[in-house]
Amino acid sequence: MILATAGSAVGLGNVWRFPYMAGDNGGAAFILVYLGCVLLLGIPCMVSEFIIGRHGASNTARAYTKLANGTPWKYVGFLGVLTGFLITGYYAVVSGWCLQYIYASLVGELQGDSEYISRYFSDFSQSPLRPIMWTAAIFLITHIVIKRGVQHGIERASKLLMPTLFILLIIIVVISCMLPGGEKGISFLLKPDFSKIDSGVFLSALGQSFYSLSIAMGCLCTYASYFSRHTDLTRAAAQIGLIDCLVAILAGLMIFPAAFSVGVSPDSGPSLIFITLPNVFAQAFAQVPVLGYVISLLFFVLLTLAALTSLISLHEVSTAFIHEELVMTRKKAAVLVTVLAAIIGTFCSLSLGGTGSLTLFGKTLFDWFDFITGQVFLPVVGFLTCIFLGWFVPHKVVRDQYTNWGSLRGRYFHFYLFLIKFVCPLAILFIFLHQLGMLS
Ligand code: PHE
Repeated sequence: MILATAGSAVGLGNVWRFPYMAGDNGGAAFILVYLGCVLLLGIPCMVSEFIIGRHGASNTARAYTKLANGTPWKYVGFLGVLTGFLITGYYAVVSGWCLQYIYASLVGELQGDSEYISRYFSDFSQSPLRPIMWTAAIFLITHIVIKRGVQHGIERASKLLMPTLFILLIIIVVISCMLPGGEKGISFLLKPDFSKIDSGVFLSALGQSFYSLSIAMGCLCTYASYFSRHTDLTRAAAQIGLIDCLVAILAGLMIFPAAFSVGVSPDSGPSLIFITLPNVFAQAFAQVPVLGYVISLLFFVLLTLAALTSLISLHEVSTAFIHEELVMTRKKAAVLVTVLAAIIGTFCSLSLGGTGSLTLFGKTLFDWFDFITGQVFLPVVGFLTCIFLGWFVPHKVVRDQYTNWGSLRGRYFHFYLFLIKFVCPLAILFIFLHQLGMLS
């Protein structure tokens, strides 16, 4: 289950957002700030969700309800489930793109000059049918895993997918770092430049760490409800944080040396993964096209695995909720979630179409989902969770979970309480205001 939770954390955010942010915001200096955010804020928030989830031993909404004692705090849990659900469809669209790129690498469609590759992406993502087909395909895979249950589906899939992802990552990092001129990429990523660190960078690091650790989406809480009574929650959170940071840094070591070796400046977001990188691979391995072919294929397989384990965790949030709250069998609940999330995904995907008919206040539906879930609901749920656990839930309940009913020493318990009572809520409040443009 801990590996599955790490799978939830390791996702597209590690590959497309982290390396770029690190490179652009002071390299190793940013990485240090980021590690500080994970350690002092991300991990305590993660432990808090674990506490609520394992105490509730049920879906996120009910877990909050059990602790809320009839007060409106229970709605925070419902909001967590809603956030998880809303992000599922949109995350699946991008995961579907990864599948299309596995296919494209396999049949050799990603060969051509940079203009061709960028046109290839815009033609594909804006075409009405193909992205939806791939979204459906990734949902089908997710559905099969979820339907098989927690132990046989989620746990088994994680045991297979996570090590594979790690091996692929190491292979590509080694090859990428060996490219001529690759050292420039390594120093871009790892050279500390403290002059770039300002409050904006600090807040972005904070936001990124929360997104990357899957905080406030119901995932951690839901997965924690399957943890055993013997799991040391703090240690589990620390391990997951470590794996997540490691994958993010390795992703940087995979991307930058290859990009610098051919003189392409790395970009962020979808264009990095789907335009810049295929281009980089094609150029970097122009002398040995077979290697370019293999690397491109491995890279998109890796990306799909990372996305898939996150998508599974998102799906599970709603499946557990519907299964328990609407008293439906798990299989029926999974079908309902798949269908509903696929409908959202379809509209998100269509909103990117050339016609641009599905826009609201100048943003596509796709961007709206990204904005509402990542920048509004995530901080709100995170903030309220800290306040709830720090100020409202009896400390005995928190301590029992933290120390496994007294069987662990519970080192740092008071420090943890201090963080979630004061430091985390304030930090989240700052990110929120920063993201809404009210603080720079
Ligand atoms: N943590 C995932 C990533 O890094 C994103 C995610 C957020 C997944 C919330 C599940 C839930 O991409």
